Amino acid sequence: MTERVVLAYSGGLDTSVAIGWIGEATGAEVIAVAVDVGQGGEDLETIRQRALDCGAAEAYVADARDEFAAEYCMPALQANGLYMNAYPLVSAVSRPVITKHLVTAAKKFGATTVAHGCTGKGNDQVRFEVGIQTLGPDLKCIAPVRDLALTREKAIDYAEKNNLPIATTKKNPYSIDQNVWGRAVETGYLEDIWNAPTKDVYDYTDDPTFSPAPDTAIITFKEGIPVAIDGQAVTPLEAIQIMNRRAGSQGVGRIDIVEDRLVGIKSREIYEAPGAMALIIAHQELENVTIEREQARFKKTVGQRWTELVYDGQWFSPLKKSLDAFILDTQKMVNGEIRLEMHGGRATVTGRRSETSLYDFNLATYDEGDTFDQSQARGFIELFGMSSKVASARDQRLGL
Ligand code: ARG
Repeated sequence: MTERVVLAYSGGLDTSVAIGWIGEATGAEVIAVAVDVGQGGEDLETIRQRALDCGAAEAYVADARDEFAAEYCMPALQANGLYMNAYPLVSAVSRPVITKHLVTAAKKFGATTVAHGCTGKGNDQVRFEVGIQTLGPDLKCIAPVRDLALTREKAIDYAEKNNLPIATTKKNPYSIDQNVWGRAVETGYLEDIWNAPTKDVYDYTDDPTFSPAPDTAIITFKEGIPVAIDGQAVTPLEAIQIMNRRAGSQGVGRIDIVEDRLVGIKSREIYEAPGAMALIIAHQELENVTIEREQARFKKTVGQRWTELVYDGQWFSPLKKSLDAFILDTQKMVNGEIRLEMHGGRATVTGRRSETSLYDFNLATYDEGDTFDQSQARGFIELFGMSSKVASARDQRLGL
């Protein structure tokens, strides 16, 4: 029987050419699998038909938008997942859900191998292949760009020679990956890290310099998940979409960083994640109000480790799962409303309201009605500083 390869198909030039390229290099039949994670652009049926026209034996499309939002973006929100304190894991969270669908399709269509269009220099190859090994230990992986020498020039050549129904003329200067959680732009002009991003780089956000009048949103959270915006119930997908639009038009969520890739390369990345950044800012503040101090401090460490694991392609790892359980436990009391003002590229919290708040007005106030017995602070400070005081006395005795 002919071997079958499941290919992660985007509908673009490289993966369209990869269909025939893999077939010729391996003799296998190619099953194209496209997964909708809210990347926008062409509709799935068009993409499916193109895969077939490019020679795929079968083409399969999955609308994973709600699943992606609920099961991948929401955990990232609950973790306040910002790699290097800046990058909201846009591509990193999408790879595991795509992987899951690839492995499901491989089983369904009796494929022995999974193929993806990543290069050998990035994180995404690691995320796909570690995920595939974990979910489908019997599956092999190939990456035509990396393993079968499919360069851009060869792809254009191949598409033209074989009359593939895909444009080869439109040359995008950037490598772009996008989904509902955000958009990543790299390569080209941006590789000179002194070059400021030009206007054409952005798509999810408008220029914050000329933003419209301020926009105020009230976001209701339940257990760390946004469940309503301005009183209207929303699904996780809707919450992200609405905030993408509203925060995006205010220019919120533009990020320009040099980032440490897992493979040891530093790379320049431009991100736009208006919805993700607005939601994270709101969520973080609601945590400040509702999570006890020691739990909050420890959660920050856990969230950072979680973020690194996810960035490094360890979504399906045991440690990531254990940290999930911790994070989920911390979210039980993260309920309430945040008022978020968005303007000129910034999202600022201006109000909080919560039934599970730990903020106690009577403890905090400096006005009448103070219930805090200030006389107790003296003894507390005496004991709190004791160990340093003892150590310092020793050092002074020794003349250090
Ligand atoms: N550097 C980011 C990451 O590793 C974004 C990768 C985007 N991928 C792409 N093909 N442009 O998560």
